[in-house]
Amino acid sequence: MFVRASHLVLMLSALLISACGVDGKVSKSEPQEEVPETPVEPTDPEPTDPEPTDPEPTDPEPTDPEPTDPEPTDPEPTDPEPTDPEPTDPEPTDPEPADPLMVNGDFENGEVAPWVGNSGEVLLTNVASQSRSGANSLLVSGRTQNWQGALYGLTNSVAEDSTYHISAWVRMDNLASSDVRMTVKVSDGNGDRYEPLAQASATDSGWVELAGNYTIATSGDVAEIAFYIEGPDAGVSYFIDDVTVTDINDDDLLRVDVDHLSALAEFPIGVAVPAGDAGNSMLNSPERQAIVEQHFSQLTAENIMKPSYLQPSEGNFFFDDADALIAYAENNGLSVHGHALIWHFQIADWMANYSGDASAWQQMLETHVTEVASHFEGQLASWDVVNEAFLDDGSYRNVDVGNDAGSVWYQNIGPQYIEYAFNAARAADAHVDLYYNDYNISWNDTKLNAILTMAEDFIDRGIPISGIGFQMHVDKSGPGKAKIKEQFQKVVDLGLKVKITEVDLRMNADGSATSLTNQLLLQQKARYQEIVEAYIETVPPSLRGGISVWGIADPDTWIVPLYGNPDWPLMFDDQFEPKPALQGFADGLAATDAEEPEQPSDPAPTDPEPSDPQPLFVDDFNAATSWANEGADGQLAATLSHNSAEGTMVVDVPWASDADVVHIKTWFGQELDLSAGNDISLRVKLPADYVADGNLVVQVYIEDSAYTPAFTGWQMASGFVAGDWTTITLSGVGPDFSFGYDGGVDFTKVHAIGIELVANGKDPAISGAIEIDDVTIH
Ligand code: G3I
Repeated sequence: MFVRASHLVLMLSALLISACGVDGKVSKSEPQEEVPETPVEPTDPEPTDPEPTDPEPTDPEPTDPEPTDPEPTDPEPTDPEPTDPEPTDPEPTDPEPADPLMVNGDFENGEVAPWVGNSGEVLLTNVASQSRSGANSLLVSGRTQNWQGALYGLTNSVAEDSTYHISAWVRMDNLASSDVRMTVKVSDGNGDRYEPLAQASATDSGWVELAGNYTIATSGDVAEIAFYIEGPDAGVSYFIDDVTVTDINDDDLLRVDVDHLSALAEFPIGVAVPAGDAGNSMLNSPERQAIVEQHFSQLTAENIMKPSYLQPSEGNFFFDDADALIAYAENNGLSVHGHALIWHFQIADWMANYSGDASAWQQMLETHVTEVASHFEGQLASWDVVNEAFLDDGSYRNVDVGNDAGSVWYQNIGPQYIEYAFNAARAADAHVDLYYNDYNISWNDTKLNAILTMAEDFIDRGIPISGIGFQMHVDKSGPGKAKIKEQFQKVVDLGLKVKITEVDLRMNADGSATSLTNQLLLQQKARYQEIVEAYIETVPPSLRGGISVWGIADPDTWIVPLYGNPDWPLMFDDQFEPKPALQGFADGLAATDAEEPEQPSDPAPTDPEPSDPQPLFVDDFNAATSWANEGADGQLAATLSHNSAEGTMVVDVPWASDADVVHIKTWFGQELDLSAGNDISLRVKLPADYVADGNLVVQVYIEDSAYTPAFTGWQMASGFVAGDWTTITLSGVGPDFSFGYDGGVDFTKVHAIGIELVANGKDPAISGAIEIDDVTIH
């Protein structure tokens, strides 16, 4: 029979006194006392009967031999207490936490009981063929449904409002790996409910722990409280071992003892903040500022640095609110993460309804990125350059599909818009970290793999991407630590930074909770802890972009207005008080650091092939083109496209006059040192009539990270092969090269190469695709 807390406490303490006497193990089978059902709020349990042993403060130690001259003490009331035996442990208040509430959790007794199957088909066998510790474990087989498994009853041993830490280790038997879950079943006045407590990916090559804290919260008559292990498909069997249930004094677990969260990390600990005209703006809220200044080292603007806020109408940029936020950050020693340069959402109507062809759209995109990134140049640590460009099925966000909004950028420019944004951002700010940011990638392989395919291509082609932003809008049931680590590792393996940009933890996604119980508080604490642990244990310090939480306190969250259920996803409550989640985050930061990846050792100098040193830069356009129009005033914009069949870049120029000038260029994503003089070569294919006209000028130029160009000299179309490839080779491009024009380039900091096309009197009617290939710097 399930008993409410007060009764249990009484029972527990009684038990302790009696049982301890015997073997220190608490026997569950025989609860001792029956008392009336009046639920009382047990905090520290009030001890009832041990009181009488409290010695009167004056009572000397009664065992002392008769003193020759007894102490004159003030006479006690006449009926002196018979000298009861010495109370060995008079601690009157909190009884020791109960021993594990588990009988036969390690199966060393060769038995199965009291474990049962949660359905008649389930076969439980105590085996010695597998064990995590000791010799035995429990084999669970004969399962015909994925919810069937081994169940352990707690009905008679747990108390209302008390929190229990339940831990079990699982290993697959006849399947290499499978998801496994620990679920708590409660049958009470509200009927049956099944609450996920833990999940993990189990394998047949080792043991994985399923663990979680569960706070008993029942109503009405309680028929059953139990937990069981489920998950693998029908027919799959698994082993269980080392199961423990511990009655934990949740005061310890609920306690928060964190002075300065960000002081516990050497990387940014950030928070998204409302600002601008938001009613809950942090800049007008001392409570929010206090939390930010005490615990965080980086800010993200929740909304005001998004496109619709910064360019509300074409060409009209509004930076005041963002500048105010950045000023606050600078005054408080906080860095800032920019969010977001290009997104399909929160763009002004003029942008969404922009009319123009692909190159016009490209120009509009690059203008926005360039203006915004230049305005904040040197003030930000990092940017979300492009946000949410992929769908969960791994395809590019394109047209509206179901609940997924489409992307005007993809619809009007194609996938290249992403690299255009990165290139323009890098051109505007040479040092800021540039992230691609998205959601669901902490568990969705298809989506993350598609993003990493793009990132790998960017790396190969020198598109300046610094890292991947994981939004991490997750909930109490998952993804689990192992899965999150697996996803982070994929990014680390590419040498890219990992940043958790928007973490928050829904505790009521299914709407079943009406209040934030201890259990939810402790589950949330454990979840924040495991997410931060996954980060610390997987991402080496050199690749840590930081961890940011998406909101200061629960009332600020976007989740409740959007989903409607009450929820408490953040680390501070509606009184701006820290929640156990903050302690969980802090505890997670104490995890063991991931190792720095092996730096590839320099190859042995023995047999350098002097013949073909690695090129400093090569663009063979085999993948796609990363080039863009420079877009300076007075320059014509060419349409750049990729001839995937030939692996070339196609340049279409809408020539209009015989004085037109076009500049197209690409960024290396790093600074190259050409101070020794390097050879530049490229191949150009001009249509015959260009050559016949002969006036078009093709000129290669380089540019340093201060945007100072040097032009290598005119190549006249008349000198090209008509309608076929011509190779241009420029030797020793560097300080000693005789440039057509050198603006004073710093040859140690060359960050881009470009091609200038000048009509130079060419008949404007002559047009047609010019092709470029194999741009190489040796
Ligand atoms: O500013 C207007 C206000 O003038 C108007 O009176 C009010 C009423 O509609 O709306 C206000 O704009 C709201 C804006 O937040 C500022 O509060 C928008 O309606 C509302 O849609 C917008 O929600 C933001 C949402 O992005 C937009 O998609 C949330 O605050 C913000 O937390 C959320 O953040 C996103 C990240 O940018 C990207 N990742 C997911 C994350 C959560 O959706």
